[in-house]
Amino acid sequence: MAKAPRLVAFAGSTRKGSFNVQLVRAAADMAAVQGATVEWLDLAEYDMPIFNEDLEKEGTPEAATAFKEKLKGADGFLIASPEYNSSYPALLKNAIDWASRPAEGEPMLAAFQGKACGLLAASPGMLGGIRMLPQLRTLLMNIGVHVVPNQFGLGKAGEAFSGDGSLKDERARSMVEGVVRQTIEIAGR
Ligand SMILES: Cc1cc2nc3c(=O)[nH]c(=O)nc-3n(C[C@H](O)[C@H](O)[C@H](O)COP(=O)(O)O)c2cc1C
Repeated sequence: MAKAPRLVAFAGSTRKGSFNVQLVRAAADMAAVQGATVEWLDLAEYDMPIFNEDLEKEGTPEAATAFKEKLKGADGFLIASPEYNSSYPALLKNAIDWASRPAEGEPMLAAFQGKACGLLAASPGMLGGIRMLPQLRTLLMNIGVHVVPNQFGLGKAGEAFSGDGSLKDERARSMVEGVVRQTIEIAGR
């Protein structure tokens, strides 16, 4: 039997009560049910300064190395991100920028090349962050990630979750399940 794919799940928000954290945690629970091994990462625990090559020369921050190692150890990612001004937030881009940098002797983009990724977004607005998703897709594809075809933006996110963190709406649940299924399938290859 094929080994269960290892996924890491994280959100592009460190806000207390973040809708994207809730969404990616719901997706991570679905992935576990679908047979993946999933680890949820809280970006608040990987506090990285804004990337600067001078800082990098002084030494890569421990948090950046730790985050990159988590990505390297995974077959795929589940990411839920807020949309800030139609794009992805600096927090997420900064984490990706740090993780994209090779340590001495390490292959280029070791954390990203050939990994599967499912993309989600959540917003209190009607559009659910869908203007951001193609931009995040392009960014990840350009660093070697296989972003799965399905994606989902959860609108009206403030009303979308039950007290236990699950999605109330059947259609929303099935959209997220579809993204998770494709991510597991591609991560398992
Ligand atoms: C700087 C900033 C820009 C934002 N721009 C957008 C936007 O373009 N589209 C959108 O749907 N929501 C936008 N929002 C609202 C976010 O969707 C909302 O704050 C959301 O709760 C953030 O995700 P989180 O709950 O995971 O932290 C913006 C919020 C901030 C702080």
